[in-house]
Amino acid sequence: SEPLRVALAGLGTVGGGVIRLLDANRELIARRAGREIEIVAVSARDRGKDRGVDLSRFAWVDDTTALAKQPGADVVVELIGGSDGPALTLARSTLGAGRSFVTANKAMIAHHGLELAQAAEGAGVALKFEAAVAGGIPVIKGLREGAAANEIARVYGILNGTCNFILSKMESEGRDFAEVLAEAQALGFAESDPSFDIDGVDAAHKLSILAAVAFGTQPAFGDVAIGGIRHLLGADIAEAAALGYRVRLLGLAEAGADGLFQRVHPHLVPIDHPLAHVTGSLNAVVAEGNFVGRLLFQGAGAGDGPTASAVVADLIDIARGEFGPPFAMPVVSLTAAPKADSGER
Ligand code: NDP
Ligand code: HSE
Repeated sequence: SEPLRVALAGLGTVGGGVIRLLDANRELIARRAGREIEIVAVSARDRGKDRGVDLSRFAWVDDTTALAKQPGADVVVELIGGSDGPALTLARSTLGAGRSFVTANKAMIAHHGLELAQAAEGAGVALKFEAAVAGGIPVIKGLREGAAANEIARVYGILNGTCNFILSKMESEGRDFAEVLAEAQALGFAESDPSFDIDGVDAAHKLSILAAVAFGTQPAFGDVAIGGIRHLLGADIAEAAALGYRVRLLGLAEAGADGLFQRVHPHLVPIDHPLAHVTGSLNAVVAEGNFVGRLLFQGAGAGDGPTASAVVADLIDIARGEFGPPFAMPVVSLTAAPKADSGER
């Protein structure tokens, strides 16, 4: 059968990972997908940059947004980032052209996911964003499909690898905040603007997507109360440890009597709670369903390999023709979540 032909926008940490993964696991992926998945065209800002992968076999496109209409491509993968700008232009024009779209861009999905889901559903194509929440952990699929029969009461967890890396290094090695942040940047975990990580905005983007999937509501990023870890001191972490707690940046979404409560802020997690043992750039998500009980998803929340793994899993679904509505249910069934009081609890 015909291969699934991919146009790839963005060749940084995640884009490079996708090329390496498709090269390394080509045969296995083809067997699982039922056909080959083949990159046909790529684009980024700087054509001359050495990316450690052979790009000579792909067509290079200078205008990244033109990938939406790349001849012969079935699907566009966007790994540029940013809630607006070229990523959004590319998403709109790809779906507008009746092609499927895969992204790791939580900022864009948090802000424009509803509009893009409407466009995808209208065109009968896929919009997939597994990599946007918790990197390599298949938590969107887990909630959207695995727990689809459940009413979810709460979903919460560690959604930002950079913050978790910083907090765990400060805790275990007594290291300085700025030094550990620089290390997370060097390892490719941090956003291009790392204030999104340390101020809780990235976790809030992810939480709003997760909540939409878990509760069948429209993503409501503006309703998330957000706090970050910028002002935490080594002394705060040491004091928490002396009292039997670890500090973790958690995102929490909970259905209450008066609406959906969504919040990101540093929490004191008791040492005997599983989330206290999630260290480094790992993420973990807990979801409580009325029939399945408590689910715990844990794994790598950032980095090239894990994130590429989620992107390629989305491509495999598309290659098989197995994709449903982008969120948990068709857009017409998503309710606008009434905002619950997000005051102190
Ligand atoms: P990088 O900064 O490593 O790569 C971004 C890529 O986009 C680069 O190749 C860059 O080109 C290209 N690019 C940037 N601006 C433009 C533009 N205006 N026009 C065309 N190309 C552009 O980012 P990541 O790979 O880390 O992240 C990509 C996406 O994945 C983001 O949405 C991020 O939030 C998300 N993500 C990242 C994870 C991670 O662990 N890194 C995990 C989960 C999601 P050039 O190389 O030429 O400069
Ligand atoms: N900057 C993000 C993080 C990348 O640290 O979790 C993964 O989404």
